[in-house]
Amino acid sequence: MAPIDYAALLRPGVPNDGGAVVGHIRQRYDFATGHPDPVELPLDELVAGLQEALGDEGRTLAWYPHPLGYPPLRDYLASKLRRDRRITCSADQLILGDGSSQPIAMVLYALLEPGDVVLCESFTYGGTLSAIRRMGAQAAGVECDEVGLIPDALDAALRRHAESGRAAKLVYTIPTFQNPLGTTADEARRGQILEVAQRNGVPILEDDCYVDLRYEGEVEPAIRALDEAGETVIYVGSFSKIIGPGMRLGYVLAPDALLSPLASIKTGGGVNQFAAMAVHRLADQGTLDEHIAQSCNSQRAKRDAMWAAMESDFADAATWSRPQGGIYLWVHLKDQNVDTADLVEPAVAHEVGITTGVNFHPEGTGGSHHFRLCFGFNTPEEITEGVSRLAAACADVGVAGVARAAAPVA
Ligand SMILES: Cc1ncc(COP(=O)(O)O)c(C=O)c1O
Repeated sequence: MAPIDYAALLRPGVPNDGGAVVGHIRQRYDFATGHPDPVELPLDELVAGLQEALGDEGRTLAWYPHPLGYPPLRDYLASKLRRDRRITCSADQLILGDGSSQPIAMVLYALLEPGDVVLCESFTYGGTLSAIRRMGAQAAGVECDEVGLIPDALDAALRRHAESGRAAKLVYTIPTFQNPLGTTADEARRGQILEVAQRNGVPILEDDCYVDLRYEGEVEPAIRALDEAGETVIYVGSFSKIIGPGMRLGYVLAPDALLSPLASIKTGGGVNQFAAMAVHRLADQGTLDEHIAQSCNSQRAKRDAMWAAMESDFADAATWSRPQGGIYLWVHLKDQNVDTADLVEPAVAHEVGITTGVNFHPEGTGGSHHFRLCFGFNTPEEITEGVSRLAAACADVGVAGVARAAAPVA
């Protein structure tokens, strides 16, 4: 039997680096990945919700789910978006997906051709950057300030790309608790971003993944809420950060003209009905709201613990973000002689995971003095210990100004 040479059969450009599997090893102090707290998962409530749903309609699992996803969960989402995000939409404008990563990939697949440009914040979520690159398209960063994308900079970038003959096809933005920057745009800024996009005739992909994790401050409406005709903004959300990424449940609200292409692109025969039924019962009975309120209290304490630990161990070595929500701190080392990529292994030697700045850089060339820390997973006590160990790792590679009173490797 002749061996099959799969390397020769692969479609040109298909990613072949092991992808996320390589990054799946978690450290004891897991500041690398955006995980919520495992202890706080509402397991009993999910089991009860699932039991009720299976009693009511378990036999419907014999059929493929609705192609747009479990209708009662889409009904619930339409009412939640109205209540929490000032968005008016119907359940039939929503498509459920495997987390929000799949809807994001569906949108990119629908819109991008090789060589197309997507404008985004100067640092942004690496998963979306990978998905853009997988399409053969290119992400380009736009300057940000303390509330996010700068409208004039966005306008200038849109005009520059249009004049160069490679007009930007899409603006991708995370306006609330931006990953990794932690910024949140106020309503005025959101309106300006929308106006710039509309004047230039370019759609916005608004990623609202962290919006429910607010620890203080005023709730800002979604950009989609300001888009009255609902034609400019494509909106994605997720249950990953308010329940857990293991649920693999997210959604997209799309303009009518995009709904049919997105529904056609969505593969996999609907979305996991088992998970969707459990989440629907949890949400519909108000338990999800209670869970979110509880999570916000505990995540706020973790954020504060990480701030305090940074103050104690990195005050002279770094600056860091002050997010009102979300689960990340964005850290900038003052020492320009150390590349944060050289910190990953020493940090792992101290059982600490971090994600370096380059992973969030649209062009993949910057961020060498930045890293991101997630405070969502570990307890406040572990966070204090983990930051101390990270300081020890930094001291090992000679980062200037870092506190040396660090814990030994266990
Ligand atoms: C900004 C942002 N968008 C989307 C996602 C994708 O998450 P999921 O597919 O689990 O919903 C993440 C995950 O960390 C994220 O940070």
